[in-house]
Amino acid sequence: MAVLVTGGAGYIGSHTAVALHEAGRKVVLLDNFDNSSPAAVDAIRALTTSDMTFVEGDLRDRSVLDHIFETHDIDEVVHFAAHKAVGESVTIPLDYYGNNLGSTIGLAGAMVEHGVRKLVFSSSCTVYGQPGTIPVTEDAPTGAESPYGWTKFMSEQILRDVAAAADLDVVLLRYFNPVGAHESGTLGEDPNGIPNNLVPYVMQVAVGRLEEVGVFGGDYNTPDGSGVRDYIHVVDLAEGHVAALDALDGSLQGACTAVNLGTGVGSSVLEVISAASDAVGAPIAYEIVDRRPGDIEQIYADPAYAKEVLGWESTRDLATMMRDHWNWQRQNPNGFGG
Ligand SMILES: NC(=O)c1ccc[n+]([C@@H]2O[C@H](COP(=O)([O-])OP(=O)(O)OC[C@H]3O[C@@H](n4cnc5c(N)ncnc54)[C@H](O)[C@@H]3O)[C@@H](O)[C@H]2O)c1
Repeated sequence: MAVLVTGGAGYIGSHTAVALHEAGRKVVLLDNFDNSSPAAVDAIRALTTSDMTFVEGDLRDRSVLDHIFETHDIDEVVHFAAHKAVGESVTIPLDYYGNNLGSTIGLAGAMVEHGVRKLVFSSSCTVYGQPGTIPVTEDAPTGAESPYGWTKFMSEQILRDVAAAADLDVVLLRYFNPVGAHESGTLGEDPNGIPNNLVPYVMQVAVGRLEEVGVFGGDYNTPDGSGVRDYIHVVDLAEGHVAALDALDGSLQGACTAVNLGTGVGSSVLEVISAASDAVGAPIAYEIVDRRPGDIEQIYADPAYAKEVLGWESTRDLATMMRDHWNWQRQNPNGFGG
């Protein structure tokens, strides 16, 4: 039997493909390269010394899914494929609703029709909106602050309803802030254009592609005034998916369950810049600028439930995240483009 990984050429999907292979699972990857490149598939194959099956296609194209389910013995799916840029989603909301909801609905429909019952879904801590209590537990109120966030909120609800109606077993993984790269430095995050996220931005400053980091807000009610987030190493995150699939055969069988994947440690923007400077071995230029509308002051996960139901917890600290992210960026200053 095999696991289908949608969005498998992307940042988290590619690392998860490697982790699933290492855990002894057979993997089939699907991606339309909307936000990734064939070089990522080459890197996965090189790291796993395998000819892992890759299908180029769009998840909204039902014939692609039918073909995959008919030609491979798929019994479980990890669904990463989505557009993910919060700011862009405000500008082109229909693209986000169309792609993210269309993909989830198309996939769930094909799974039901082909009798595939186990699904792990990429959700996000954005479903907590402006969180009331920190650290955030899974029973905190949910909502969203952007069209992207709503696509995650709505996808969760769609999957809950399908799970109840059609006996699908689902884990909704709510990621905090994935950073870092595979320790080989051959697989990592390769954002298109100007990065939306802090760490890729910081690393592009470190290689000279960008001039300085703008720190949005220095007057938050946090220890150093900058915003606080829960950064998690992408390989820890990838291992969380292996644990989630295992749990679908055990403690989470017969349910649709939301689980946080975070470290439980909050790091400020200035702490991240400092840890990145240590990894790079040189100062990283930054300037504190105005707060960005809609940004939250601080959020980090309560990771206790993940430990309880998945038997999983993160093991890599901020210094390791920065070391590995830098190792990838240093070896690939222009990402997969060379
Ligand atoms: N990276 C983060 O900070 C973060 C945080 C929380 C949640 N997530 C979620 O995790 C998932 C993976 O994120 P990522 O950082 O790896 O993003 P990514 O953009 O690197 O990977 C997503 C992949 O999906 C592919 N894709 C998009 N639409 C598709 C479609 N219709 N058909 C086939 N392939 C399609 C893209 O080409 C890309 O390779 C996404 O669902 C994202 O919303 C990411």
